[in-house]
Amino acid sequence: MRNWIEIGNLSDIPLRGARCLETPAGRIAVFRTAADEVYAIEDRCPHKGGPLSQGIVHGTGVTCPLHNWVMSLETGEALGADEGAVRTFDLKRDGDRIFIDAAATAVAAAE
Ligand code: FES
Repeated sequence: MRNWIEIGNLSDIPLRGARCLETPAGRIAVFRTAADEVYAIEDRCPHKGGPLSQGIVHGTGVTCPLHNWVMSLETGEALGADEGAVRTFDLKRDGDRIFIDAAATAVAAAE
């Protein structure tokens, strides 16, 4: 059984932007797309550690603010010619409320 922890409201996240979350698994960026979907990925670009939470969201991808790698918010993988991936974390929505899978963040921390 999953342990969902409430982490805030959709309306707290800027459209096509992100809010960060400090967890045992490190800093997680929670993104809101133009279509009001939410995704959580590690806030650390696999290239040189850029803060993906400060990148530009387009569709279901985010462009790293440092050297423009594009990461998929769905799979965590780099798109295009670049190779690398960030961890993704499951979220759940209940209206405006957003929850994260606490077990996933704990497991990630233990890796
Ligand atoms: S650190 Fe993200 S593209 Fe270089």
